[in-house]
Amino acid sequence: MTKQEILLAQQEYLFPAVFHYFSEPLVVRRARNQFVYDDEDREYLDFFGGIVTISVGHCNERVNRAVHEQIDRLEHVSTVFATEPQVRLAKTIASLTPGGELTKSFFTNSGTEANDTAILAARCYTGSSEVIALRHSYHGRSSLGMALSGHGNWKLGGAVEPGIVHAHNAYCYRCPFGLTYPDCGVRCAQDVEDLIRTSTSGKIAAVIAEPVQGVGGFITPPPSYFRIVAGIVRNHGGLYISDEVQTGWGRTGGKWFGIEHAGIVPDIITAAKGLGNGMPIGVTVARPEVANALKGLSISTFGGNPVTTTAAKGVIDFIREENLLQNAADTGAYLRSKLEQLQEKHAAIGDVRGMGLLQAIELVEDRRTKAPAAQLTARVLEAARGNGLLIGKGGLYSNVIRISPPMNISPADVDEFAVRLDRSLTSAAAAA
Ligand SMILES: Cc1ncc(COP(=O)(O)O)c(C=O)c1O
Repeated sequence: MTKQEILLAQQEYLFPAVFHYFSEPLVVRRARNQFVYDDEDREYLDFFGGIVTISVGHCNERVNRAVHEQIDRLEHVSTVFATEPQVRLAKTIASLTPGGELTKSFFTNSGTEANDTAILAARCYTGSSEVIALRHSYHGRSSLGMALSGHGNWKLGGAVEPGIVHAHNAYCYRCPFGLTYPDCGVRCAQDVEDLIRTSTSGKIAAVIAEPVQGVGGFITPPPSYFRIVAGIVRNHGGLYISDEVQTGWGRTGGKWFGIEHAGIVPDIITAAKGLGNGMPIGVTVARPEVANALKGLSISTFGGNPVTTTAAKGVIDFIREENLLQNAADTGAYLRSKLEQLQEKHAAIGDVRGMGLLQAIELVEDRRTKAPAAQLTARVLEAARGNGLLIGKGGLYSNVIRISPPMNISPADVDEFAVRLDRSLTSAAAAA
């Protein structure tokens, strides 16, 4: 199909909810490592990685070799039969969880399903249905996922579910209490006690939180926020669920999971995206006593699929063999320094934040008022495309540029990225 045929067919045959970036959608034909190629075979440096999903490079050769072998041997039987790839992956994941304490996995196809499973398990384990989520969070597109999400834009159909309340998050750049860290005493976290006492029965099933709020614009709370919240919730009988769909598998640098930076061992971790490097896989991994509470009939037909679990095992092996946890920390620090240099040059960059290779810049009209610069952000994305660079967008006000390249990039890639982003920021500001 030609590019035009693809775009016309998309309009005619797909739900309009399948939206894209850019005034003229980018048609992608192929990708390899850190590069994506359009219909004219034009090369783009991909610093968004298919929405924080390409963890080890597009079409990773070693991972895909294992996938090809597996797909020709056994493609699907469902979880009513036992297969080696599923248990091999579960055993590997158990060895990576904080303290080795989360040892039982339930596989699905997406982050949404991983979170649905986590909430179900927490409810079965505690006998309570009440859940605390955070404002500015995103947890998926099922009814439950949308109800958990603290982001009005993503609550289609007015998603509601009784028993879910939303706590303040630690959005230090726009503190909900108008305070400054650390003098604030992490008031937003302390407020969770009040939230539980005023807005719930006092007996909680769980809190669910992202270590870095992805869709929210890579909002990065201080580690003490999570420690305080976990303590309060556990005092009220609740479990701690860490949604690591964006932050898992080393992306935050130095650790397999983002929550480890706060020194917390969660009761449940959910993950997807980077685990499969593009293969559809989600996992809910829990302490055994929590997993054992989810009794009775529950099935995911494609969950634990031999092909996707083989891919995920290959991704984890690659991350280990190539020492990518360290690369995410080191190259992430280098990326951060480049963004901070750009902040000195471009007045529109109000905030630079993130961890490891999960970094963002928040664009504002004016650094004093912090008025969100949504239109400028859209122009920067377009300009970056013109400069052969793919970056992401996010935040409640659509004014945050999200940067999440594959974890096996080099400092030279970061240098090239910085040159192209600099050029894009300059031309987008001039076009105002
Ligand atoms: C933190 C987080 N949780 C859950 C999800 C939902 O994952 P999926 O789109 O695979 O259902 C996302 C997706 O962006 C996410 O960022």
